[in-house]
Amino acid sequence: MEVFTKFFNQTRKPEGFLGKIMVSTMNPGHAQMADWGFSHLPIIDPAEAADFGCGGGRNAGELLKMYPKAHVTAIDYSEISVAKAKDQNKKAIDTGRCTVLQGDVSNLQLPDAKFDLITAFETIYFWPGLEKCFAETARVLKPGGYFMICNESDGTDPTSLKFEKIIDGMKNYTIQEIETVLMKTGFSQITSDHHPSKPWITVLAKKRS
Ligand SMILES: C[S@@+](CC[C@H](N)C(=O)[O-])C[C@H]1O[C@@H](n2cnc3c(N)ncnc32)[C@H](O)[C@@H]1O
Repeated sequence: MEVFTKFFNQTRKPEGFLGKIMVSTMNPGHAQMADWGFSHLPIIDPAEAADFGCGGGRNAGELLKMYPKAHVTAIDYSEISVAKAKDQNKKAIDTGRCTVLQGDVSNLQLPDAKFDLITAFETIYFWPGLEKCFAETARVLKPGGYFMICNESDGTDPTSLKFEKIIDGMKNYTIQEIETVLMKTGFSQITSDHHPSKPWITVLAKKRS
């Protein structure tokens, strides 16, 4: 595998030297899109929030700022992402407001109905089976809890489709595809948005009560 391909494959699960470089680009590289995504969250006051596929942990930090009373759990299956997310949120970890866990969203070692809010930025492309992973997300959400997905690909833009050919196991989804799986896995009241000039999308759903 040539270096270019190897490097971009680090977006799926950062590992080794190239993974460290990739993770260091994620926080600044995704900030603008993530902030657009955050603007779609309803006014809520979650006690327990989580960011799945947290990468470098910047978005867990944003959740901590947005919801000063919340405890935030950041989860990623990459050891390198977990280390970076811990470093990024050190103060909040030390004060007991943040926990960073290594885990796979397809099989979380977490109790049912733990979270009021779960976010997932730039990560569902890599989840092993959307239906299984959304069902697992629904399991750990409280009834009425929110799940927000934010992707910089709308599933049809040529750049992202090109990356699908380079990155093993990557799948870009359209809003409609995401909504269909959410409906099947216990979510309702789904609202979606497409950025006016970029292929960015957000999908916000509520776990059925
Ligand atoms: C492109 S990065 C995005 C990171 C971060 N959310 C952001 O927006 O900057 C994708 C992250 O999702 C993680 N990831 C992918 N599949 C996962 C899974 N099944 N369980 C947990 N983490 C996963 C990867 O390890 C990687 O850190």
